[in-house]
Amino acid sequence: MMKILIIGGNGTIGRKVSAHFKQKHDVLIGGRQSGDVIVDMTDAQSIQAMFDSVGAVDAVVSIAGEAKWAPFETLSEDDFYIGLKSKLMGQVNLVRIGREYVNAAGSFTLTTGILADHPVRFTTSAAMVNGAIHSFVKAAALELKDGMRINVVSSGLVEDAVDKYEEYFPGHNPIPMQKVINGYIKSVEGSGTGDIIRMYDNR
Ligand SMILES: NC(=O)c1ccc[n+]([C@@H]2O[C@H](COP(=O)([O-])OP(=O)(O)OC[C@H]3O[C@@H](n4cnc5c(N)ncnc54)[C@H](OP(=O)(O)O)[C@@H]3O)[C@@H](O)[C@H]2O)c1
Repeated sequence: MMKILIIGGNGTIGRKVSAHFKQKHDVLIGGRQSGDVIVDMTDAQSIQAMFDSVGAVDAVVSIAGEAKWAPFETLSEDDFYIGLKSKLMGQVNLVRIGREYVNAAGSFTLTTGILADHPVRFTTSAAMVNGAIHSFVKAAALELKDGMRINVVSSGLVEDAVDKYEEYFPGHNPIPMQKVINGYIKSVEGSGTGDIIRMYDNR
C-alpha cells in the first residue's frame, strides 16, 4: 500500500483517479476549496506548508492547474502569466519542493493534455504550458535521485468534461475515464520515468 497525495483529486478527472487509488492505497487529496489538505499550487509557500503537514509520501499526483483560454489577439501578458504560474510553475514547484518529501523509489505524476501536440483555437497559452511541462518532465527525470520517477499524463478531452469543452474540440474522440485512469496507474504503479503518457488516438 502506498501513501499517495493527489492535488486536484476532487476535480473532474481527479475524483475518478482518486476513487481508483483509494481501493488499494492510502490517498490524501489536496485542493484550494476542498480536500484533506488545503493548498494553492500557485503559491510556493502554500505547497511547502502542504508537504510539512502531510509528511513523507510514496507518490505525488497533480491533476490540477489552470491556463486562460481566449483568442490570441485578446490575451494580455498577464493572461499568459496565469498559465505560467498555475499549470506550469505550480506543477514544477510541486516537484521542486516535493522531492524532499517523496520516499526513495517514489514518483511524481503531472498532468498536461492533447493541446501540447494538437492545439485547438484559443489555446496559445494552454498549449504552450503543456509543451513546457513535457520538456520539464523529460529533463527532471535525468536528475531525480534515489530511484525517484516522474511522468506526465497527457489526455484528450475526457468523457466527463465533454459538456464543458465539446465546442472547442470539433471531431475529437472523447477519452473514456477508465483509459485516463490507466495513464495514472501506469505512472504510479509502473516503472517508467520521463514518460509522456499520451491517452488519445494520434488524431
Ligand atoms: N477535462 C479534460 O478533458 C482534460 C483533458 C486533458 C487535460 N486536462 C487537464 O487536467 C487537469 C484537471 O482537469 P479537470 O477537468 O479535472 O479540471 P477540474 O474539474 O477543474 O478540476 C481541477 C481540480 O484542481 C484543483 N485546483 C485547481 N487549481 C488549483 C490550485 N491553484 N491549487 C490547488 N488545487 C487546484 C481544483 O480544486 P479546488 O477548486 O478546490 O482548488 C479542482 O478540484 C487540468 O490541468 C486540465 O487542463 C483536462
